[in-house]
Amino acid sequence: MHNMKITEALVAEHTIFLGVFDQIERALPSLTTPAEVKTMASVVEGMLEGHAKSETNLAYLALDHVLAQNGELKRMHQDHHEIDDRLRQVHTASTCAEARRLLGAAIAASREHFRAEERSLFPMLEQVLQEDTLTELGQSWIERQAEPARRV
Ligand SMILES: [Fe+2]
Ligand SMILES: [Fe+2]
Repeated sequence: MHNMKITEALVAEHTIFLGVFDQIERALPSLTTPAEVKTMASVVEGMLEGHAKSETNLAYLALDHVLAQNGELKRMHQDHHEIDDRLRQVHTASTCAEARRLLGAAIAASREHFRAEERSLFPMLEQVLQEDTLTELGQSWIERQAEPARRV
């Protein structure tokens, strides 16, 4: 296997997540209680958590190098908080319709966020970070995937 950059790993995860989002959207209309939708929201929260953590670590590494383009990183953090907030809001819904609407909105925001990262943030990180750094981080990402029990 060639040395995978962390950015490539993150894009691969986006692709997997987009597939999961499609499945959830397909399932949403058949959910009948807010509790079921809230469970789905918790699954999405858990799924995005490790991914966002990797991105945050990567961003902090890059921060020293790219003060000029720091707007991209700020936007990334804002998006992460906004998506988390939206997912948390699902838990406050009192009707199934409201919970479905909120989860749908959180998924739409995530999709848009992935697109923005792939369009501008990841190319910038690949530009400012050393190839070696990107592949070392890619390697530790692979090792983390191999130890699911130890993931937070
Ligand atoms: Fe992100
Ligand atoms: Fe991402």
